[in-house]
Amino acid sequence: MPLVLRGRHLGGDLLLTKQAPNQSGNESGNDLMTKIVSLCKRRGFVFQSSEIYGGLKSCYDYGPLGAELKRNIAAEWWRNMVYERDNIVGLDASIMMHPQVWQTSGHLAGFSDPLVDCLNCRERFRADKAPRAEAGSTVNYVQGGKSGGAKLSGAVSPKGYVCPQCGAPTLSEERQFNLMFRTSLGPVDPLTEVARELEGKSLTAAKIREMLEEAAKKNVTYLRPETAQAMFVQFLNVQQSMSMKVPFGIAQVGKSFRNEIVTEHFIFRSCEFEQMEMEFFCEPGTQKEWMNYWRDERMAWYHRYANDKSAFRLRAHEDDELAHYSDECYDVEYRYPWGWGELEGVASRTDYDLSRHAAESGVKLSYFDQQKNDPATGKPGWRYVPYVIEPAAGLTRSVLCFLIDAYAEESGVDAEGETKTRVLLKLHPRLAPYKAAILPLVKKDGQPEMAMELVKEFRRLGINVSYDDKQSIGKRYSRHDEIGTPYCLTIDNDSVKDGTLTLRDRDTAKQVRLPVAEAVAAVKAKLDQ
Ligand code: GAP
Repeated sequence: MPLVLRGRHLGGDLLLTKQAPNQSGNESGNDLMTKIVSLCKRRGFVFQSSEIYGGLKSCYDYGPLGAELKRNIAAEWWRNMVYERDNIVGLDASIMMHPQVWQTSGHLAGFSDPLVDCLNCRERFRADKAPRAEAGSTVNYVQGGKSGGAKLSGAVSPKGYVCPQCGAPTLSEERQFNLMFRTSLGPVDPLTEVARELEGKSLTAAKIREMLEEAAKKNVTYLRPETAQAMFVQFLNVQQSMSMKVPFGIAQVGKSFRNEIVTEHFIFRSCEFEQMEMEFFCEPGTQKEWMNYWRDERMAWYHRYANDKSAFRLRAHEDDELAHYSDECYDVEYRYPWGWGELEGVASRTDYDLSRHAAESGVKLSYFDQQKNDPATGKPGWRYVPYVIEPAAGLTRSVLCFLIDAYAEESGVDAEGETKTRVLLKLHPRLAPYKAAILPLVKKDGQPEMAMELVKEFRRLGINVSYDDKQSIGKRYSRHDEIGTPYCLTIDNDSVKDGTLTLRDRDTAKQVRLPVAEAVAAVKAKLDQ
């Protein structure tokens, strides 16, 4: 729809002169993250959990606009995965599952990271993420890691790394730390039981630990560390209840929990986070073809919403990186301010999960294809365990990625000749918390009423808009730039007379005058970009 420019320029917009450096410019990554974290708090995207009590480390609350952004990303994923395909259905499984699930999946035995203590400054860290140093070389560090401490030096152990905090080579042995959060289900407190048993007995620490472990096992359960397992253990229920034919997929969005040794970069790595995972079940032998398909689909999905497509890349896993059950894996990586890092994993998981759960549960988790001949016997009908391709994305990590991608600053000269900087979030309209802001210029002369009618029209269409009559029009524009609202629709005196309004575009700051009905159509068209 052509927009008619009638030369009206409302409010304190800047005359843009140049694009200020953003994340792809010369600004340091730390500065950019500091600005994003600050914007997140100031504008209600992400708050520190329990802030009034000093906060809880690595736990975050999504504020009014963060909740919208997160929901919008999840909704776009769900639309793409489930609504736009005939062969993928959804699941919303319980966070707590039978403990045997985690025994069978290998998480109880193997879902751990190597934990090391620094004997100098007491820092606890992940050995595989520690700064590398040449084994046997001498490094300098300060006693206790504190300023003013004695200057020491020591040799790097054959493991070839040092403490990330103080640089000391004096480290404990590595031990495996399981990342699962353990809890108990039911009205039994294992500690009370043990306390009762211990009464009057004098036992060694090892014996007490053994008793505690035994008691904890009785009603132990875990917070899921991934959403994926529910889709394997519900494979048959979903396939049969929905008469799904292979190839088909099960999709799920939800919380996962990992007791990470190191949480980092704001919401990038936290202990409680959300995932968007899909298990795609296919015929053995077709996994390579499906892997290529899903790898490309997932990149295309990120590109659809990104401003800077070059900040996304695919990285194939080396053979020694592959999990033992996987025959191929790609990471979708994003160029975060601190460097390239994982955003999503697309893994070919063979028939490992279904086979393991079938073996342990005794339930046949297989598929019978009447149309195919069994390749082993040549006879009609083939029963097989499907192979799985798994695109596993981080939802909360995507929130961070899209915030970084959208953050921009523009310098310009205002009407008084002063240089000002405009901060904006160039979020894709489908991800933006509000799709438009409806702004009566003044709170009188029928303008609020007309603005409210327009708000109701958008709400009837299911489009989330903001009615905003607070502060000057210039401040309102700035506020909506900063929270990523693609369009501001301003109702003024003329609007009441002739049914037109001013539409201001977030990214160009250009304003056009047009009839109200055309403004509604423009917002709808923007959503289909
Ligand atoms: N089922 C496979 C699986 O869970 P993963 O690579 O461990 O694979 C998938 O997790 C995605 O979940 C990651 O690419 C990342 O985006 C997100 N993720 C994993 N751990 C996270 C954490 N501690 N905090 C935030 N996001 C995390």
